[in-house]
Amino acid sequence: MQKKQTEVGEIISVSGNIITVQLLDSIKSNMPVINGIVYRIGQIGSFLKVPLGYANLYGIVTQIGASAIPDRLKLDDFDFSKQTNRQFLNLALIGEQNGRKFERGVFQSPTTGDKVHLVTIDDLDVIYGGYNEDNSITVGSISISESLNAKIDLDKLVSRHCAVLGSTGSGKSNAVGVLLKSIADKEFPNSRILVFDPHGEYNSVLNNKSVVYKIRANKDEKELFVPYWALPFNELTSIFSGNLSDSNKEYFRTKIEEAKREAAIVNNIKIEKELITADSPIPFSRQKLWFDLDDFERQTFKRDKTTLCLINKGNPSKMISNVYESPGIGSSEPYMNNARKGILGFLDSVRLKLKDSTYDFLFKGDYIPDLEGKINMDIDNLLYEWLGNEKSVTILDLSGIPIDIMTSISGTLLKIIYDALFWGQNLSNGGKEQPLFIVLEEAHNYLKAGDNSISSKTVQAIAKEGRKYGVGLALVTQRPSELDETVLSQCGTIIALRMNNSKDRSFIRSAMQDELQTMVDLLPSLRTGEGIISGEGVRIPSRVKFYKLTDAPKGSDPKVSEKWKLEKKQSKENYNTLLSLWRNQKLKEEQK
Ligand SMILES: Nc1ncnc2c1ncn2[C@@H]1O[C@H](COP(=O)(O)OP(=O)(O)O)[C@@H](O)[C@H]1O
Ligand SMILES: [Mg+2]
Repeated sequence: MQKKQTEVGEIISVSGNIITVQLLDSIKSNMPVINGIVYRIGQIGSFLKVPLGYANLYGIVTQIGASAIPDRLKLDDFDFSKQTNRQFLNLALIGEQNGRKFERGVFQSPTTGDKVHLVTIDDLDVIYGGYNEDNSITVGSISISESLNAKIDLDKLVSRHCAVLGSTGSGKSNAVGVLLKSIADKEFPNSRILVFDPHGEYNSVLNNKSVVYKIRANKDEKELFVPYWALPFNELTSIFSGNLSDSNKEYFRTKIEEAKREAAIVNNIKIEKELITADSPIPFSRQKLWFDLDDFERQTFKRDKTTLCLINKGNPSKMISNVYESPGIGSSEPYMNNARKGILGFLDSVRLKLKDSTYDFLFKGDYIPDLEGKINMDIDNLLYEWLGNEKSVTILDLSGIPIDIMTSISGTLLKIIYDALFWGQNLSNGGKEQPLFIVLEEAHNYLKAGDNSISSKTVQAIAKEGRKYGVGLALVTQRPSELDETVLSQCGTIIALRMNNSKDRSFIRSAMQDELQTMVDLLPSLRTGEGIISGEGVRIPSRVKFYKLTDAPKGSDPKVSEKWKLEKKQSKENYNTLLSLWRNQKLKEEQK
């Protein structure tokens, strides 16, 4: 009896897995009521069923109305007046049900004349069910039927990478928070997730399930350090302003390499000397290097060209230069150092940066060597803190990194982590034995298309080969069109939330399975927190309403209207303090 009620039309053509359905003349309403439930026929993205013997084929409605009318019916000589019903729709076949089992893909093909039926709640249960509880997480409900849970296959989500795309305010961060929380809430004592959080949004989302590393940490957070000596040479030099000529850059590179080789011995680091380059993550004393380079520029000599004309001895740890007698005029004593490089301007910028407190996360703290290059703590400790801590989720809050070096520093962090897991691939803390899921918020910053930065190269490497070493990526961005296309195509699961910009949508379209591309047209109309999940992580492409987190990720923008409501405090003294902090490049007054 139900069969008759649910019948909506008949197949009139089949082309590959796209079938065209002519709706029954008797369908007077697009909203039939069956067993007390209202169904809507012909919603883009909804399902219809084609019973074939013991099996049911399922398809997603991709087109309705004029665009779905088969070409042959559009011919001039076709007599439309003889057609009783002119309603058509197209379905993309996506799966097949045998008994209670639903599988992606179809093994048989329907033919013209086969009947097409509505999909009922019971059918939906079959379609959306069938996840293995152990390796799936629940992230929300299915939009068309709120009573059904929306699940994602965790193994596929992590190991085949995923992308969370949507306009600002569409609910990306919330969705990511839900993903993380549902993983953290499962019994996964060995799970590890690392979040690169440029705005410090996630700190409170997972409260006791996460550790937060942050520059100028608050209570309950830990201090984030990125020792300068762990940066590859190009990233390190990019911190300092002032241009170096190519030959001076080489000079600087050689000096750093020498300093690293010496410090490797001081620190008893077991490594072949020849393997050490300016890019190696090996300590060296920034102050001694600066002092030596600076001194070389300033030296003046007596007539014998070997006796130095030093007047005042400087101090490397305080970064005070040696002072020499001024050079004589013409050919008189003292003589300048003829081999000097003319890089005092650059060295000044180095000194300023080393003293600037916003850069303390690079130049101060437990990982910083003494003048001999000796360190107390090495990067293994850093890696242990980020990757080996007892919590499921580690959040690297990057909000304190000066914006001009953000990409360079976060790219370096990513590289340090990926390199470590690559070389540790055979160990129990390598990615194969303990997979790592890396979440990149604002991923477009790492991956400018066509760009050759350390972050781009690292993300590309992880996207291509991370799977082999147990490293999965989640790319979160509001500007998918700025992402490198090859990287997006490596993302097995795509979570597309509301997306207003048509350029971005066409980008998502190209990343989606062909017959589902029309679903992309739904994206501008999605509600906040609603998304289309497609790809390997789900059994079928689903329109999903994500749960809303109680502790939603929060942007750190001050609430203007709130702040402006407060009473005005006029104090000249405050501006005096402000000026002093600025001049001293400090964010806080020093405790006396
Ligand atoms: N599933 C949801 N249900 C209800 N509200 C949501 C949902 N997801 C997000 N929101 C709300 O929408 C706003 C923007 O969400 P957010 O995750 O910050 O978006 P995005 O990261 O894409 O900019 C927030 O105020 C958030 O509370
Ligand atoms: Mg966000």
